Amino acid sequence: MDKSSIENSMKQDISAVNDAAGLSVFKAKYNGKKGIITELFSGMKDITDKEEKKQAGLAINELKNMCEALAAEKEKQLLDSKKAEGLKGVDVTLPAYGVEKGALHPLTLVTEEINSIFLRMGFSIEEGPEIESEANNFTALNFPADHPALDMHDTFYMENGYLLRTHTSPVQVRAMKKHKPPLKIIAPGRVYRRDAVDASHSSVFHQVEGFMVDENIHFTDLKGVLDLFLKETFGNSLKTRFRPSFFPFTEPSAEVDVQCVNCMGKGCPACKQSGWLEIMGAGMIHPNVLSNVGIDPEKYTGFAFGMGVERIAMLKYQIDDMRLLFENDVRFLKQFR
Ligand code: DAH
Repeated sequence: MDKSSIENSMKQDISAVNDAAGLSVFKAKYNGKKGIITELFSGMKDITDKEEKKQAGLAINELKNMCEALAAEKEKQLLDSKKAEGLKGVDVTLPAYGVEKGALHPLTLVTEEINSIFLRMGFSIEEGPEIESEANNFTALNFPADHPALDMHDTFYMENGYLLRTHTSPVQVRAMKKHKPPLKIIAPGRVYRRDAVDASHSSVFHQVEGFMVDENIHFTDLKGVLDLFLKETFGNSLKTRFRPSFFPFTEPSAEVDVQCVNCMGKGCPACKQSGWLEIMGAGMIHPNVLSNVGIDPEKYTGFAFGMGVERIAMLKYQIDDMRLLFENDVRFLKQFR
């Protein structure tokens, strides 16, 4: 058989192929172990003339390439027509099913916003466990065993000195034991209290703790950081106020207020006519707390603060019942898309 008659017969054969089985037969006939092209290759050993051998080799290779190209092209055609077959009766111009877009929960949004403000001020984020030791939750934070401040922190106790943490302040203890000053850390997370659930209380809620420890940290640093934070969160025109308070782990301690976002400080039901909203507790870290974690209080000082995420979310989005944040009713959550 000469070259062009093999070419013609390949063309003829391939045009008759209309399924995968036919394609295999075609491949075997020409390129298989006993295929026509394969036989031609093995016949080359009988050609003695060098030039003739070379020409034969080239010609057979061309046949082989052509065979492979024809097979590949047919394979693609078969695949395409299979796809087209599958779409028969389907109107490809119809719009796709709508994908419902989800959204972040308002508590996640607010926590991320709080985090980002402090990250911009150079703080880093640390997290602690929700099951915490009594030692970290209370003792290391300078709560005496019979202190009345423990009443506010009635919680869920476990065996072996563990409890569900009542605040994120124990992350201070963990972080200060782990790292040496200077420290600039915030600690967001979930906390627990044995509180009855109502419009402004929940037994599970969220806090963001923050603290800074270095040489020469003063109350003015605390005021500067928190004033900037509150202005970023609630608006630049609102004033910040520090009132004396008490926490066992800070001395001096303060409650931090911002002018009422609802009435701009004039007085309204939301702020009980006072013009101020209480946002968080803060203070200079008590020297006992620093000593408890092995930091020299003669050399280092620090400030700390802690706030409730639900309260900030409620003020920011004018939500009047905390339970809405936990019910997960999509009609409520949809509004934060
Ligand atoms: N841990 C306090 C609480 O849950 C909040 C708090 C107050 C944290 C003052 C602080 C602070 O770091 O300095 O009630």
